[in-house]
Amino acid sequence: MASAPFELKGKSVYVAGHRGMVGSALVRRLEREDVRLVTVTRGEVDLCNQAAVFDWFAKVRPQVIFLAAAKVGGIVANDTLRAEFIYDNIAIAANVIQAAHQNGAEKLMFLGSSCIYPKLAPQPLREDSVLTGPLEPTNEPYAIAKIAGIKMVEAYRSQYGCDFISVMPTNLYGPGDNYHPEMSHVVAALIRRFHEAKVSGAKNVVVWGTGTPRREFLYVDDMADACVHLMKTYSSPELVNIGTGEDIAIAEFARVVADIVGYSGEISFDTSRPDGTPRKLLDVSRLAKLGWRATTSLRDGLKRAYAAYQVEAPGAAQR
Ligand SMILES: NC(=O)c1ccc[n+]([C@@H]2O[C@H](COP(=O)([O-])OP(=O)(O)OC[C@H]3O[C@@H](n4cnc5c(N)ncnc54)[C@H](OP(=O)(O)O)[C@@H]3O)[C@@H](O)[C@H]2O)c1
Repeated sequence: MASAPFELKGKSVYVAGHRGMVGSALVRRLEREDVRLVTVTRGEVDLCNQAAVFDWFAKVRPQVIFLAAAKVGGIVANDTLRAEFIYDNIAIAANVIQAAHQNGAEKLMFLGSSCIYPKLAPQPLREDSVLTGPLEPTNEPYAIAKIAGIKMVEAYRSQYGCDFISVMPTNLYGPGDNYHPEMSHVVAALIRRFHEAKVSGAKNVVVWGTGTPRREFLYVDDMADACVHLMKTYSSPELVNIGTGEDIAIAEFARVVADIVGYSGEISFDTSRPDGTPRKLLDVSRLAKLGWRATTSLRDGLKRAYAAYQVEAPGAAQR
């Protein structure tokens, strides 16, 4: 097994999921490295299709892999598309990790999620709390698939000596986010709702849930920078959380988003909508010891995310 520090220079680097929010941030970040970037679209290779993945890997043999492809969504998507979330995410992890091993990849980074931690695990969430209690029911299928990916990484390290690592990002936001009215994550959903209310002159915006859950948010370009840092410097079986180490109540967060979007009406809360887990803050002390911390403030990140929304969301500029 190669050990840290790991040289990226001159290597072929495959970003799986390069059209997604994290994948596209990784592509932006890797443009600053001297690497040969490799990407392939879902139309060319469906990562759920084992034969297609194995054939493509045997042909291309990427040396380094960032596994940022997954079926991803907010609380409604997770809770309603439960079969798709577990099947797709297990299939993507199983196919890519096995193909990377079979084709002698030098290093692979698997992207998990903070959802893998038990619903009531002590906060802030430490990496060693995984599998110590029941999961949040609304996203259990997604979390189980991500835990399967983490366990594959551990098993391939211990049995085959593969230099594979796993990182657990907190809630991410930024350019390339999904703004679907029902299926998006909270940041994109709020940006959209406040923007539409501002443009239409609506006097009230409804935020899902009670507003009391606390969440942590990391700007996606910071996330990509952390991934590249860990790819170069980290080689151990233990997970590494990636976050800011700071959380905020959804109600207060909504007011910050409204302010940045320029919406000045009322904000109310639809308590019939699920809150999800009461608090989700990552313990980022391991990441800090590894020499990385987030640099984009919440307000700066949200300003950039709102600017991206106005360009990316269909019709946003006209609304
Ligand atoms: N967003 C967050 O807040 C967050 C938080 C924690 C962890 N993560 C993790 O970060 C990673 C990336 O998330 P993201 O937010 O960037 O998601 P995203 O924007 O939805 O991007 C996912 C990417 O995966 C690709 N993909 C999905 N299924 C595929 C398949 N069957 N074959 C080929 N490609 C497929 C998508 O391709 P198409 O472009 O063709 O759809 C897309 O490019 C995931 O592992 C996720 O679990 C995200």
